[in-house]
Formats: sequence, C-alpha cells, structure tokens
Amino acid sequence: MGLFERVYRWFSRSLSNQLLFTYLFVIAFALGVVSFWALYAMKSEKIDVLRNSLEVEAAHLALEIDNDLSLDSEQATNRIKAAADRRAARLGWAFTVVNNDGHVIADSGRLPEGENISSRPEISDALAGIAAFYTAHSSRTRTDWLYVAYPVREAGQTGGVIRVGVPLTDFNQRFNRDLIVFLEIMFSTLVVTVLISLWLARRVTRPLSDMSEMARQIARSGDISVFVPVGRRDEIGEMALSFNQMIGRLREEERLRQEFIANASHELKTPTMAIGSVVEALQAGAIDDPELRYQFLNSLENLVERQSSLLKDLLDITRLEGGAEANWQQDVNLNEVVQISVEQTRLQAQKKRVEIRNNANSDGIVVSGNSIQLQRAIVNLLTNAVNHTPGGGSVFLTTKVFEPDKVEVVIQDTGTGIDPSDIPHIFERFYRGDKARTRTAGGTGLGLAITREIIARHHGSIDVESVLGEGSTFIVRLPARLK
Ligand SMILES: Nc1ncnc2c1ncn2[C@@H]1O[C@H](COP(=O)(O)OP(=O)(O)OP(=O)(O)O)[C@@H](O)[C@H]1O
Ligand SMILES: [Mg+2]
Repeated sequence: MGLFERVYRWFSRSLSNQLLFTYLFVIAFALGVVSFWALYAMKSEKIDVLRNSLEVEAAHLALEIDNDLSLDSEQATNRIKAAADRRAARLGWAFTVVNNDGHVIADSGRLPEGENISSRPEISDALAGIAAFYTAHSSRTRTDWLYVAYPVREAGQTGGVIRVGVPLTDFNQRFNRDLIVFLEIMFSTLVVTVLISLWLARRVTRPLSDMSEMARQIARSGDISVFVPVGRRDEIGEMALSFNQMIGRLREEERLRQEFIANASHELKTPTMAIGSVVEALQAGAIDDPELRYQFLNSLENLVERQSSLLKDLLDITRLEGGAEANWQQDVNLNEVVQISVEQTRLQAQKKRVEIRNNANSDGIVVSGNSIQLQRAIVNLLTNAVNHTPGGGSVFLTTKVFEPDKVEVVIQDTGTGIDPSDIPHIFERFYRGDKARTRTAGGTGLGLAITREIIARHHGSIDVESVLGEGSTFIVRLPARLK
C-alpha cells in the first residue's frame, strides 16, 4: 500500500482528523502566503526609502562640489576629498567621487585615487547619464552594499559621478529580526488554530461518537431505557433529538407488544378456564345425566370454537404485522370478492332478520393485492354491521370509483351506532365498545385491527362515520384500476 493511500485511509477514518487537518492546511497556507508577501513588501519599501536618502545625499554633495569638479587643480581635488570625508564621517556611509572618464578623485573608503572604476555597472550607468541603483556583495567586508551612483551634470554633460554606498548589515539584521517575529507570530497563530480546531472537531465529533456508542450498546443489550442528552440547537442537537425520537418509538412499540401479549393471554385464559370447569363438572357426575351431558358438551363445543377462532385471529394479526408470506401482488377482481363476502355473511344476517343490500357495481375493477385477505376485511366489516344492527334493520354495501385510480367500498348499517368516545379506539387491538355484552357473546376486538392492517397492506385507508342510535358507515378506499 502506497504512502498516499495509507495517509488517506488514516485521514478518512476520523471526522475530527479531517476537520483538524483541513483547518490547519487552510490557515497555514493563508498565513504563509500573507506573511511572505508582507515581509517582502516591507523589505522593498524600506530599500526604496534608503535609496531615496542616498540619492538626496549624493545630490547635496554634487551641489557642493560641481564647481571643483571642473577645475582639475590640486586645491579643488582636496576640497572634494574633504567634502566627501566630512559626509562619510557624519553619516557612516561611503562616498566616492569619480571624474568623467571613470577615475576615482576621492573616496572615503579604501579605493586608491586615480583607479579606473568605469567598468563597474553602477558607474558605467551613471557615466551614461542614468542615476543607478545597485546592490553588491563585498567580499572584503562580507556584507551586501547598496549603491546609488549619481551623475553630476555640467553644461548638459556628465562631469563626473558621485557614488554613495551603505552596508546593508544593519538593514539585514533588522529584516531578520522582523522575519523571526513574523515566524513567531505565525507559529503561535498555528498553535492557537490547532487548539481551536481540535476543540471544534471534538465538539462536533464527541456527540457523534457518543451516539454511535449508545446505538452499539442498544444493539448489543437491547436495552432501550437510554436517552441521548440533547442540549444543543445545531444539526447535531437535531440528530440527538431524532435519535431520542427513534428510541421513544422503539419503547412505544415494546410497550404495545407487551400489552398485546398480556391481552392475548388474558383472552385465552377466560375460555380455557371455562373449558376446565365444564370438564370438571362432567367428571363430577354430569356426564351420567343425559340432558346435562348434552348441554355441557354443547357449551364445550362453543368454547373450543371461540378459542380456536381467537387463536386464528391472533396468528393472523401477528402474521399481517410481521409482513409474512402471502402474495400481495395478485390482480383481485373486486366484484368477485364483494359477492363472496356478502354470501358468507348472508346466513348470519338472516338469523337476525337483518337484510343485506348489495348495491355494489364494481364490474371490471381490479385491485392489486390479496383476494383472501381483502375478502376477510369486507366480511369483518359486514359481520360487525350485522352484529350491531337489531332485527328488521339493513346493511348496505356500495362501491364506486371516486377518482380515476381509486375505489371506495362503503358498508353502512342502520344499527346502534358507535359512541363518539369509542370511535378513536375501535381500530385498536382487543378494543370492544360495549364491554358487558361482548365479553360473553361477542368477539375479541381484533376484527377491526386486522381489517385496518389488511387495508394498509393494500395501500388504502379506512374511515368511520357514526351517529349513535342511527347507524354506522365504514368507508374503505383502495387504489384500483379498470380492466
Ligand atoms: N357497525 C358497527 N356498529 C356499531 N359498533 C361497531 C360496529 N363495528 C364495530 N363496532 C364497535 O367497534 C368495536 C371493535 O370492533 P371489532 O370488529 O374490532 O371487534 P369485535 O367485533 O368486538 O370482535 P371481533 O371482530 O374480534 O370478533 C366493537 O366491539 C364495537 O363496539
Ligand atoms: Mg368484529
């Protein structure tokens, strides 16, 4: 594995590294560019200032000596030397005066008089009439020098050159000191940046790793009694909030599950105990009495039937909720399902002298789903309607397409109606409206829960409208298409 790849892997493993090093890189780069630029701008600015003062001094000296330069006498030469030395002594700079063919007339330093220095670049420029500006390294003093060579004009011609030089030792020292200060500032800024970005990176990643640790713990132990502390309003706080909502939902699910098990066991217990006492009574002698025997066996049969239908409902609802096997992609002929459901309920209705009126007109309507389950849902609704309608009443079943791709199945009765306080609960598992009546005779309260689950499986909805004493209407809406 290459170095780059290895660094990249290490980098991509931790969010805090990514944040930290991105900050660091950006800050270091920006600081580097800015300080480099600032230092060099400063340096050239200072050199300009220095050059200007060298030029000013050269111009002053030129004013002082331009007469003597043209005289070419010993006295004149001496005056020139004196003027150059005076200035050199006052300023600590080097002054050189050269005549118009490049020979040294006076030098405050060590240049011998009469030496021809016309080949030096600053001198040759100045002799050509250009004020020249040069830096040069002197191997003797081991320092850089800054030179200004200033042409002295005389009647439109260059009468000589005044060269002023200054060693850059001080200047360079000062520049190095500045450089060090700059580096120190840069370094401390970097340190502060590292600390801040570390803090920031931790602040971002700490709650994240806390949360993932918590999730791992939940996955390991199944313990959902925990909550993540929120305490922030940013995206991380939001995430903690969602995390807690998720846990809250899990808890609710768990509570419902336990409640379901408790209810189911309770419902199973009642008929089981009843069976036990009937059997006991038979054993205690009722079996010998032909009439009692018949009566007891009859009620045993009822109890066992009730028990097994309860078990069937329980199994069905757990299967439905668990999303088990059945094929939910069949093309279901709605008309057929409705006819069969009505036939199934007809006998029970006749016994109660309740009339079922089938006004369904669902020819050619196809619902995608499972025909057995759909039939079950409609039978549940019809059975409820018949059960809660006194003799002489009626149950109406109608279907209609209410949007190009939706069908409505309406089951309406002229029965007892549902108490408004019951309405929000009737779709809950084990919920029964009139407890006293249903405990002995009626169902277990699973019918509507199963129905709603089946409708949901078909991506449909179920609603109820009811007026106490007048009747109830259940409206099922399903996605459908015309064949
Ligand atoms: N058509 C209706 N008219 C009046 N009340 C109804 C009607 N349908 C349902 N209910 C009320 O809703 C409750 C729940 O109905 P659900 O079908 O879930 O249970 P159930 O009929 O009591 O028992 P199960 O269907 O499990 O045999 C009923 O107990 C009843 O109080
Ligand atoms: Mg029912």
